[in-house]
Amino acid sequence: MRILVTGGAGFIGSHLIQALEQAGGHDIINVDEVNDYYPVEFKQHNLSLLIDYPRYTFYQKDINDLPAIEQIFQTHQPEVVVHLGARAGVRRSMTEPALYKTAIYGGTTGLATLANRYEVKQFIFGSTSAVYGNRPIPFTETATDLQPVSEYAKFKLMAEQWLQLNQVTTKLPTTILRFFTVYGERGRPDMAPYLFTEAILRGQTIKKFGDGTTSRDYTYINDIVSGIMAAIQHPFDFEIINLGNHQAVSLNDFIATLEDITQRPAQIESVPGYDWDAHHTLADISKAQRVLGYQPTTTLRAGLQRFVDWYRINRL
Ligand SMILES: NC(=O)c1ccc[n+]([C@@H]2O[C@H](COP(=O)([O-])OP(=O)(O)OC[C@H]3O[C@@H](n4cnc5c(N)ncnc54)[C@H](O)[C@@H]3O)[C@@H](O)[C@H]2O)c1
Repeated sequence: MRILVTGGAGFIGSHLIQALEQAGGHDIINVDEVNDYYPVEFKQHNLSLLIDYPRYTFYQKDINDLPAIEQIFQTHQPEVVVHLGARAGVRRSMTEPALYKTAIYGGTTGLATLANRYEVKQFIFGSTSAVYGNRPIPFTETATDLQPVSEYAKFKLMAEQWLQLNQVTTKLPTTILRFFTVYGERGRPDMAPYLFTEAILRGQTIKKFGDGTTSRDYTYINDIVSGIMAAIQHPFDFEIINLGNHQAVSLNDFIATLEDITQRPAQIESVPGYDWDAHHTLADISKAQRVLGYQPTTTLRAGLQRFVDWYRINRL
């Protein structure tokens, strides 16, 4: 297949492209603007891992540069688009909403319009558990009246809704995957798994928001990638599918697990919680199991162990 991935210099995108390269048989086109939301060297390193595959092409382009993106569609005629390129930090979205609106909503609608024009057979959109806001857990895809609590989540939900209506009018086959807190090797340095590991291993202080009873469904990167690969193999007219681990882990338990793995005590500074993130997330993954054969296999402990091992070798 000819597969165009956006955001392939980032955490999830670079792991996906590695898996596609290992599977073989695909033409892979990676489009990423390589922005400096976190250090560009991280993304350059991710990119360097992808270049040995002969049927791989990288374009450093903003997805909102529509003439350039259209040229890429013309040249490569992708059959599948996996759209992961986005501003991804929730906190920053609260101070720079316009940037997030352009990247997430503008970027998705422009890309899907081109995908439709170039008769892409399947458009896969990387969305987020954040669209569920503070609903009771577990989160199911059939939930309606979603009320996101951050600008990031609001624009992801707007993009989802636009894609749903777009599918009705254009018939662009569309799969929306809602990822739940993804962690693992080369993980994003603005996220808790990275920040906490870094602080514990360097003897620095962790900022613990709230009393530690908030919880997250942490999903190991290989499990997310296997879910995206399954989605590529199973085109739908339109589906929304959760990809999580189906285990809610409290912040206190998360920190304790890291202490156990690193054999070091965390130095904790408790700070007040905030309103722009959900208190709890937990994926109902029964739909993913049913329609994709998705089955996460990595426990938090095993995945964190791999992440800590990677961090010690590559970042200390
Ligand atoms: N990591 C998670 O826990 C998580 C959870 C839910 C959803 N997601 C979604 O998954 C996707 C990938 O996330 P990630 O963690 O790999 O983030 P990431 O920041 O590592 O990767 C995103 C990539 O998109 C690129 N990008 C941003 N705006 C762009 C634009 N306008 N044009 C071209 N490229 C652009 C960035 O340069 C970056 O390399 C994002 O859409 C994110 O919202 C991630």
